[in-house]
Amino acid sequence: MNVLAIYGSPRKDGNTAQMMDVALTAFPEEAEIHKVFLGELKFSGCGPCRECKTKGYCVIEDDMQSVYKELFWAEIILFGSPSQFSDVSVDIKKLMERTWWMKGGLHNKIGGYVVTGRRYIESTLNTLHAFMLRHRMILGGSGAIGFTFTEMGNLDYDPLALRDAKGTGMRLVELYDLIYKNKQP
Ligand SMILES: Cc1cc2nc3c(=O)[nH]c(=O)nc-3n(C[C@H](O)[C@H](O)[C@H](O)COP(=O)(O)O)c2cc1C
Repeated sequence: MNVLAIYGSPRKDGNTAQMMDVALTAFPEEAEIHKVFLGELKFSGCGPCRECKTKGYCVIEDDMQSVYKELFWAEIILFGSPSQFSDVSVDIKKLMERTWWMKGGLHNKIGGYVVTGRRYIESTLNTLHAFMLRHRMILGGSGAIGFTFTEMGNLDYDPLALRDAKGTGMRLVELYDLIYKNKQP
C-alpha cells in the first residue's frame, strides 16, 4: 500500500499537519507512507511554455520533478490544505497546475483530503474535488474539516475534526482493500 501524504500548509506543524498526522494513524503497518511538505520545496505554478503539449512531460526543472515521481508511485494520495482566501493553499494550487501534463497518470489512484479553516471553505473543497475528478481519481475520505482560526492548536476545540481525519484515513484504507484485495467492508 503506497501512500503519499501531501502537506500543503506553509506551517509544518500547524493545524492541517495535525489533521494529516491523525489521518495517517488509520493506515496499517504494511503501508509505506511518503510525506511531502510542499512548504519545504521550491517550485512554481504552471508557466507560459506549454512544452508539455508537444513533449508529453513537464520541462520545468524544479522540485516538482521529485513530486511527480511520488505521484506516480502512490496508490493513495492524501492532501492536506488550509483554506486560504476560500481556496486551497497556494502550494497545493501550484502542484495542481503542474500536473496538467500527467494525462492519465493519476487515473484510478485513491484520493482524499483534510482541510482546515472556518469560513467560505466550500470553494476549497470544490477545488480538491474538481482536481481529483478531473484526473479520474477515486475520491474517498469522509469530508474531514477542522474548524480553526489562525492559531495553532485550535483543533483542541473541534473534537470532531480529529475523529473525521481518522475516518478519512480509514475510508481510504477501506477503498484500497475493496479495489486491490476485493475485500468488502
Ligand atoms: C493568507 C491566509 C488566508 C486565509 N483565508 C482563510 C479563509 O478564507 N477561510 C478560513 O476559514 N480561514 C482562512 N485562513 C485561516 C487558515 O485557514 C487557518 O488558520 C488554518 O487552520 C491554517 O492552517 P495551518 O495551521 O495548517 O497553517 C487564512 C489564513 C491565511 C494565512
